[in-house]
Amino acid sequence: MNSENRLKELQEMREKARLGGGQKRIDKMHNQGRLTARERLQVLLDEGSFEEFDMFKEHQCTDFGMENNKIPGDGVVTGYGKIDGRLVYVFAQDFTVFGGSLSKTFAEKICKIMEMAAKNGAPLIGLNDSGGARIQEGIESLAGYADIFLLNVLYSGVVPQLSGIFGPCAGGAVYSPALTDFTVMVKDTSYMFLTGTKVVKAVTKENVSNEELGGAMVHNKKSGVAHFMAENDEQALLLLRKIFSYLPQNNTEMAPVEENDDPVDREDQELNLIVPDDPNRPYDMKEIILRVLDNREFLEVHQYWAPNIIVGFGRMNGHSVGLVANQPNFLAGGLDINASIKGARFIRFCDAFNIPIITFEDVPGFWPGTAQEHAGIIRNGAKLLYAYAEATVPKITIITRKAYGGAYCVMSSKHVRGDINYAWPTAEIAVMGPSGAVEIIFAKQISDADNPKKVARELEEEYKEKFANPYVAAKRGYVDDVIEPQDTRPRIIRALNMLSNKRDSLPPKKHGNIPL
Ligand code: HXC
Repeated sequence: MNSENRLKELQEMREKARLGGGQKRIDKMHNQGRLTARERLQVLLDEGSFEEFDMFKEHQCTDFGMENNKIPGDGVVTGYGKIDGRLVYVFAQDFTVFGGSLSKTFAEKICKIMEMAAKNGAPLIGLNDSGGARIQEGIESLAGYADIFLLNVLYSGVVPQLSGIFGPCAGGAVYSPALTDFTVMVKDTSYMFLTGTKVVKAVTKENVSNEELGGAMVHNKKSGVAHFMAENDEQALLLLRKIFSYLPQNNTEMAPVEENDDPVDREDQELNLIVPDDPNRPYDMKEIILRVLDNREFLEVHQYWAPNIIVGFGRMNGHSVGLVANQPNFLAGGLDINASIKGARFIRFCDAFNIPIITFEDVPGFWPGTAQEHAGIIRNGAKLLYAYAEATVPKITIITRKAYGGAYCVMSSKHVRGDINYAWPTAEIAVMGPSGAVEIIFAKQISDADNPKKVARELEEEYKEKFANPYVAAKRGYVDDVIEPQDTRPRIIRALNMLSNKRDSLPPKKHGNIPL
């Protein structure tokens, strides 16, 4: 064969690989509003930056007629490329090839780029669209999954790992994303479940649709398995690019610094008016976050799950920061089980990847009652405490209103190695709210009084004067300063500058034992 024919042969082989499971199946995906694996990579990566590996690799299965049923690439497109000029390793599962199901070969391709990502210190993004273990391969596909899971775990906290869910993902195809840092789902066309609807019906007699079992909203709002939801494939891919922009390449680097045109000394008078006079009236903590961050840009994580705590990414003078904030608009900002888990996981991500944490605090306490106690608020609330105490990145806390009880200790207080604690003049730092406190410590005095209500009110006022303010804590140095709300942005930026060379560590250990 002459060189011209060899080139032609290569082109034909490439064309065959690019067609995956064939035009009919591609058309079906397009008709469902889904992009193909290669189209997804085109949107995800900078133009012309994708370099593919193992395009011709085939499965080795010889059962169920599979020996005569091979498609080059075997259902997953792998390689590396760039996002905003930064290196990233990627895989995109091709649903047109055996439903994107995972063979041993398929797993080997993914493991190869995972190992490269770790060795070269660059993030990994997986675009999942797969029916799980390839049934024809049996144990070989299970072994392949386990190989991937192991690398997900080993490289957790080494390089950022992001997952997109783009179709019906089952079995192993959802466990690997569950081990990664953030998961984006597409509304109406993506699903995540361990076992599909047919198996559910056979085992539990439940009749459920894909959407009810594992749709994007189910996992964004109910289970917390997914962190983001997008309207369609394209939006999900652009969202992955955006998440990537806040993250460093690996655990030894800092996130990239963006150019910033929002003045670092910008005051905001409106902040002085946000906290209502009535301590029991809610307000929107997100408004405070937006007013403080560069150009009001906030990428919220877990927007729909446990909205009583807010977590997400923003920038301060161009530097990536993680925000954790109680939300008085939901459950009065109280910390329940889901909020504690949500906050803890995000804090640990930021800590692993050198992203400073800014905490806005207005919390009446952990959520009381049998439902929470029986479900383990003690065990789960401890996760948040553990995560804050363990984190060695710069930690800055602003107490806007309530910092009551255990929640005061937990939310990055100085006692758990918070670097800077500022309080607004509206802050109330106390063991509990005035009415609860008075009921306990003055029970007899109130019940003996001729007018118990009046006495209770007076005692509450006395308690507020004494404890429900920031100055008791400030006098002891438990808050570093009481600041004007309008100055919050410049004060945080100065503190972040001051902390930019912070060095802190943990006692030598294999690993801690976070109360999981
Ligand atoms: C081999 C598979 C497959 C699989 C789908 N296909 N799943 N082939 N192994 N696991 C093939 C189908 O035969 C079909 O081939 C094509 O992919 C598209 O599948 P459809 O069923 O036509 O598509 P759809 O109706 O959209 O349904 C998608 C689906 C469903 C929800 C994913 O296919 C499904 O329920 N599949 C099985 C899911 C599952 O239980 N997987 C095993 C999980 S166990 P043709 O030729 O017609 O195009 C597992 C263990 C890992 O993963 C361990 C984890 C800890």
